[in-house]
Amino acid sequence: MATDVHGPVTTGAAKPPAPASAVRVEGLTRSFDGRAVIERLKLDVRPGEFVALLGRSGCGKSTLLRILAGLDRDIEGTVLVPRRKAVAFQTPRLMPWKKVWRNVLLGLPGKPERTVAEKALEEVGLTHRSDAWPKTLSGGEAQRASLARALVREPDLLLLDEPFGALDALTRIKAQRLVGELWQRRGCAVLLVTHDVEEAVLLADRVLVMDGGVIAHETTVDLDRPRNITDPRFAEVRAGLLERLGVATAAEAG
Ligand SMILES: Nc1ncnc2c1ncn2[C@@H]1O[C@H](COP(=O)(O)OP(=O)(O)OP(=O)(O)O)[C@@H](O)[C@H]1O
Ligand SMILES: [Mg+2]
Repeated sequence: MATDVHGPVTTGAAKPPAPASAVRVEGLTRSFDGRAVIERLKLDVRPGEFVALLGRSGCGKSTLLRILAGLDRDIEGTVLVPRRKAVAFQTPRLMPWKKVWRNVLLGLPGKPERTVAEKALEEVGLTHRSDAWPKTLSGGEAQRASLARALVREPDLLLLDEPFGALDALTRIKAQRLVGELWQRRGCAVLLVTHDVEEAVLLADRVLVMDGGVIAHETTVDLDRPRNITDPRFAEVRAGLLERLGVATAAEAG
């Protein structure tokens, strides 16, 4: 087993060379009670690339994300990820006894100033809720607080596990737009787990489908941004992925 972490290598005053990949996974296997959920999986994500990960419930998406986040090290194979990485889950997981801005700074090394939190909260449009208690936030606000908490880590890799799953349709669209903007501004690599094919095609450079413990399929989304769901080419990519996931489209079903 080799779990490795590569961060920028500093040699003198010279700028470190940009790594060739943000994520490099080879031969990754993770078993629970003798059953392999992930089996000899290979995955590469380029620096700054936005990758969406689809797959049926229970196929191992969250397991893979947890491994990439460094939260699960009971693995076989090689996993190379940037030192600076951050993760946001479906449920925001805010500490109820800490105000929003303190939640944003939670777990950061040293004694970061409040202004660090405020800057991230501003990026997600939540400055006005900085002093609020988590239980008073709406679902969308809590999710934005969780994103701010990921952003203060200045990640080279942002791991998102169904971050919009619990949001109503309108809030979800706003949150998707926000993530797209943050990604373009920050330039970090993103791995987004989602059940929503449209969301994947809207945001990602590349959409992966996980099945049988491996990345069984990938589609490169070669559409200009901002993307338009009414574009026939958008519909084409979406239909191809739905077919791949075993979901017949209306045209086929009809
Ligand atoms: N700690 C654990 N102990 C035992 N089994 C586990 C554990 N974590 C995950 N599993 C099993 O591994 C499989 C993959 O789980 P995982 O949470 O990665 O699926 P998922 O693709 O994220 O599903 P969903 O789309 O429903 O979130 C499931 O069968 C799950 O029961
Ligand atoms: Mg999951």
